[in-house]
Amino acid sequence: MRPAFGGIDFGTSNSTVGVVRSGQPQLVPLENGQPTLPSAVFFNFEDGYTYFGRRAIADYTDSIEGRLMRSLKSVLGSSLANEKTRIKARQIGFIDIIGFFIGHLKTRLEEDAGGAVESVVLGRPVQFVDDDAEADAKAQGELEKAARAQGFRHIAFQFEPIAAALDYEQTVIREELALIVDMGGGTSDFSIVRVSPERARSNDRKGDILANRGIHIGGTDFDRLLSIAHVMPELGYLTPTKDGKRNLPASYFVDLATWQRINLVYTAKAMTDLKQIRFEAARADLVGRFIHIVEHRYGHALAGLVEKAKIALTEQASAEVKVPLPGARFAAEITRAGLEETIAADIERVTATVRQTIADAGVPASDITAVFLTGGSTAIPLARRQILSLMPQASVIEGDIFGSVGLGLALDAQRKFA
Ligand SMILES: Nc1ncnc2c1ncn2[C@@H]1O[C@H](COP(=O)(O)OP(=O)(O)OP(=O)(O)O)[C@@H](O)[C@H]1O
Ligand SMILES: [Mg+2]
Repeated sequence: MRPAFGGIDFGTSNSTVGVVRSGQPQLVPLENGQPTLPSAVFFNFEDGYTYFGRRAIADYTDSIEGRLMRSLKSVLGSSLANEKTRIKARQIGFIDIIGFFIGHLKTRLEEDAGGAVESVVLGRPVQFVDDDAEADAKAQGELEKAARAQGFRHIAFQFEPIAAALDYEQTVIREELALIVDMGGGTSDFSIVRVSPERARSNDRKGDILANRGIHIGGTDFDRLLSIAHVMPELGYLTPTKDGKRNLPASYFVDLATWQRINLVYTAKAMTDLKQIRFEAARADLVGRFIHIVEHRYGHALAGLVEKAKIALTEQASAEVKVPLPGARFAAEITRAGLEETIAADIERVTATVRQTIADAGVPASDITAVFLTGGSTAIPLARRQILSLMPQASVIEGDIFGSVGLGLALDAQRKFA
């Protein structure tokens, strides 16, 4: 029997599960041997089953009738958390859907362990909700409740960047003052931690953590902004009414551009409103595309194309969002410069958070000797440039971009439960 504890990194975009085996942290295979599972749930209306991860996204993309949910972590602490959503004839709470997903991760963890696992360290961003301690506590409470409902009895939390620091520390050979950068899908988190091979063996690390800060900005925000700025105008956003008195209302465009709000556009009420908006629009043809996309339940696929373009712009100078639907056929070209302009204000807020983290630590930036990067959004060149410019002397270490947090949570679970 393996020890009955693990670490779960429930991410906005991807999740991992970590365990410790022979003293070494490892990630549990979650889907076809792969250690990451996209945080996606698909309620298949054709066979009545619920699917997770890549399979969920693939089924949805294959036009199987059903309901896809993504970016669920962003619901924690928000007003959506108390809402239910209609899944065929049932009303299901968003928190219950998060519970199904955690339950699926628990099943994989238990398969790996060969028995029941009741103790878990759950990762959490430094702030689920920015500058609102009450909403933040509510968010953690909701996650804990969802995990408890799935049968976890001993639940501890750890900041995601601290978990990443524990993973990084495994590789350090001398004492360093490290800035840990974890920019994911929903949040950007930073810790300044003193790491060393000796300190790694100590159980109480409070004194080694000089500062922790986070902000609710991540890759899904960049997807939303990119969609609003470069794709939604192709569907009528920011176009005037026929009488030229005002622009079309923005809210449905924002919903369609926001991962966790896409399903809100798929209601009968929204369709009635959209038809009225098309009637009033000077560019009825563009709103017609919007309606076509809604009728074909193409919203998540469109958001996926936008995300793909964003990722391509990490390597390329330009990329295209090309919608192939007859009836809504268009292509929007986005350049690297266009992306950078669109996300500049958000990246500045992220960079300001790093500055504040350094100020909190009470050390000069020049004392930071290492910057450890993890999380998918640290690949974005603008984000790297801006953050690294604050400590140009530090060496830059790239972690396991999708796995560091899960590995570190496993180490933390060993500390807390072994
Ligand atoms: N090469 C890339 N360039 C730009 N963005 C990328 C790249 N690869 C992945 N991303 C983005 O990284 C994000 C996912 O990162 P990650 O899996 O670390 O997040 P997460 O752990 O699920 O989220 P969080 O920790 O915020 O809850 C997505 O928004 C994805 O689009
Ligand atoms: Mg993460």
